[in-house]
Amino acid sequence: AGATAAGAPARKGETMVGVPFEGRSTVRVGIIGLGNRGGSMIDLFLAIPGVQVVALCDPVKDKTARAAAKVTAAGQPAPATYTKGDHDFENLCKRGDIDFVYAATPWDWHFEMAKTAMLNGKHVGVECPIALQLDQLWELVDLSERTRRHCMQLENCCYGRNEMRVLRMAHAGKFGDLLHGAGAYNHDLRGLMFDPDYYEGPWRRLWHTRLRGDLYPNHGFGPVANYMDINRGDRVTHISSFGTPSLGLAQYREAHMPKGDPSWKETYIESDRTISLVQTAKGRVIRLEHDVSTPHPYSRINSLGGTKGVFEDYPERIYIEPDHTNDSWGDFSKYTDFDHWLWKEHANPPGGHGGMDYIMVFRLMQCLRVGLVPDFDVYDAATWTSPVPLSHLSIKAKGAPQAIPDFTRGMWKKARPGVDSEKPEEA
Ligand SMILES: NC(=O)c1ccc[n+]([C@@H]2O[C@H](COP(=O)([O-])OP(=O)(O)OC[C@H]3O[C@@H](n4cnc5c(N)ncnc54)[C@H](O)[C@@H]3O)[C@@H](O)[C@H]2O)c1
Repeated sequence: AGATAAGAPARKGETMVGVPFEGRSTVRVGIIGLGNRGGSMIDLFLAIPGVQVVALCDPVKDKTARAAAKVTAAGQPAPATYTKGDHDFENLCKRGDIDFVYAATPWDWHFEMAKTAMLNGKHVGVECPIALQLDQLWELVDLSERTRRHCMQLENCCYGRNEMRVLRMAHAGKFGDLLHGAGAYNHDLRGLMFDPDYYEGPWRRLWHTRLRGDLYPNHGFGPVANYMDINRGDRVTHISSFGTPSLGLAQYREAHMPKGDPSWKETYIESDRTISLVQTAKGRVIRLEHDVSTPHPYSRINSLGGTKGVFEDYPERIYIEPDHTNDSWGDFSKYTDFDHWLWKEHANPPGGHGGMDYIMVFRLMQCLRVGLVPDFDVYDAATWTSPVPLSHLSIKAKGAPQAIPDFTRGMWKKARPGVDSEKPEEA
């Protein structure tokens, strides 16, 4: 009932396309989840002028205390801390002195945290994936539109130096008309997933007992979606996924885990490798892969091809006419002229993942401070995450295509800026 574009439920608020932040001299941040990710991302928030970390939440008290010590060591007032169980984040969200909530918790909590932050009037950025069910993605879209709060998937890989350079080259027409791209999360996590001290509990491994699809599409999908202006002139329409047998984790357990370890009670069903094909309204094709349970070197694939040539990453190489015509790969480092302004200004950013985490946080905080439209919004979050539930459904249906909803409800046709931003005057 009330269906609009591409089977979308009727809109309950107003679009968030092109809606700027309010602008403020200081951005006051609350962080939920202070494990591997939250506990290191806090350093980057603290490194950016005009950002104050005012509240922290993690039921593990010593992680919260360690993070709080970082805040005072950075010369800021002691933050409020919330350590009383799994729902204390609700009290953090209720505070009147927070502009932006960052959630870096197990996936199980992302949806609830995004929702609670918005319902309490906060803009929110969540680690990947932002939710795991299609109805939850729609709920986040509706809530963002109703509460007028931005709800963002903090996709750091969109801010990688190579990704941003390829994005600018694509927009400059260096690849001609775009035809295809690929992205992946192929990262051997077997050792970490069975390490009792790395994650806070077995939450990540347990997802391999529940779903068969691409559990982590965002790192590969986000950058390619940007190259193709998905939700900004094109949109993704459907996905077909195929999954291999699930053998990697059980074989790793057999080889490394003592009998009696709690993991022996688990039955893994997640495909070791999921391969998905996504088609766009303009007829382009995007290949996505996910594999965290077999041996191989880290790769997000990160490729883009068009009528004038192709880029492939891991390792980076390029072949575009007229620069290359002899059937052998060219040197991508010759294209630094196309570097994004953020990478020209921050040549050696601090923090992990080659600096892209810092570039992302810097830019997001700049948008909040100056009062700009964010580079990505709830529609991107929902789109980049939609392969989680849809790949699972497609695999169960032997690869049958699943419609990807138009979360923008028709606004995708409008060209508009995204991660390929202009440097703002005020910065
Ligand atoms: N973007 C990236 O490059 C990147 C890198 C690493 C992890 N991640 C993502 O970050 C998230 C966290 O991963 P991690 O490796 O830090 O896991 P982790 O297990 O090390 O940390 C999660 C933390 O959340 C806390 N937590 C659990 N339930 C909570 C609740 N109800 N309220 C408050 N805190 C709660 C835990 O105590 C723990 O400290 C995941 O979504 C993961 O996919 C992203």
